[in-house]
Amino acid sequence: MPKRAKISVIGGGNVGASCALWAASQELGDIVVLDIPPAEGMVKGKMLDLAQCGPMGRFDCKITGTVDYKDIAGSDVVVVTAGIPRKPGMSRDDLIATNVKIVKDVSENIKKHAPEAIVILVSNPLDAMVYTAWKTTGFPTNQIVGQAGCLDVARFKTFIAMETGFSVEDINALLLGGHGDTMVPLPRFTNIAGIPITQFISEERLNEIVDRAKAGGGEIVKLMGTSAYYAPALGVIDMVEAIIKDKKRILPCAAYCEKEFGVGAPGAGYFVGVPVVLGAGGVEKIVELDLNADEQKLMDASTEHVKSLVEVVCKAFPELA
Ligand code: NAI
Ligand code: 2OP
Repeated sequence: MPKRAKISVIGGGNVGASCALWAASQELGDIVVLDIPPAEGMVKGKMLDLAQCGPMGRFDCKITGTVDYKDIAGSDVVVVTAGIPRKPGMSRDDLIATNVKIVKDVSENIKKHAPEAIVILVSNPLDAMVYTAWKTTGFPTNQIVGQAGCLDVARFKTFIAMETGFSVEDINALLLGGHGDTMVPLPRFTNIAGIPITQFISEERLNEIVDRAKAGGGEIVKLMGTSAYYAPALGVIDMVEAIIKDKKRILPCAAYCEKEFGVGAPGAGYFVGVPVVLGAGGVEKIVELDLNADEQKLMDASTEHVKSLVEVVCKAFPELA
């Protein structure tokens, strides 16, 4: 008899609780959300509230709020949202000192209690946190992946739909690089129902839309004083679904590259956003593209930024080097 999938989420704040909500509403499996003891009442209360949506939302999922890592045992997927979000005026990179400590602690516990799980990082700065989790757990690189590209590309698609008036469902786009202002949207790989985007939007206007997508996280922080959560969480859930249903989706995710797209070197790679095949084995493949010189230049600049973040991590925590 097929067993129900088990999805654990570490950090029951805005993004973590939204992940649980989307996962439950899609009936993806049993859900555990774990937070730290000062937030015990909050996480248990939120998950009880969510469990009580079952009769109306018509989902049969066991939903648990907890502060005990034993509850994540047997997870198929663990999503890490623990960490502080940015406030207005902060960049994602300003979070590094606090969040490396948190992600290190969380990763040690995942290694101990759910060593078979595919781990999806969300905490920021994303590319450095994926690296931190990888070094701390020692898991194989297919088992560790970061969510950023699903969100960033969804923002890009949303803005194109707003501009053209066509359905968001018919907009296809691709994006590479780190999660930050150096991310690399690829207009050359963007189309609406297969028709090149240039037929609908001028190059000049498209560049403005690209810039808005790059700054999409900051736009929301400015409006509401903290970072986004509905769309980031749904980006995570697309990845979770691809893994637990072994869908072999091609999604833009932060994955370990040590030669792909000119990133890193053998034995000295980095996690950056690239198209990956996501299935039961986690990151099953990286799909390479022939970038033109301009695109490669942008990708190289993005990778340099990711490298500089990893250097900050390794300087503060030499054991992660
Ligand atoms: P939040 O403050 O609402 O929630 C964070 C939760 O983590 C809190 O409930 C806190 O108690 C918990 N936490 C702190 N230390 C912990 C530990 N050691 N173990 C377990 N839980 C712990 O923050 P929010 O908005 O949910 O954001 C979470 C992180 O996700 C932030 O770093 C944010 O920048 C990042 N983020 C990343 C996105 C992406 O696309 N990669 C998009 C949106 C947010
Ligand atoms: C976002 O892009 C803050 O990384 C978060 O919304």
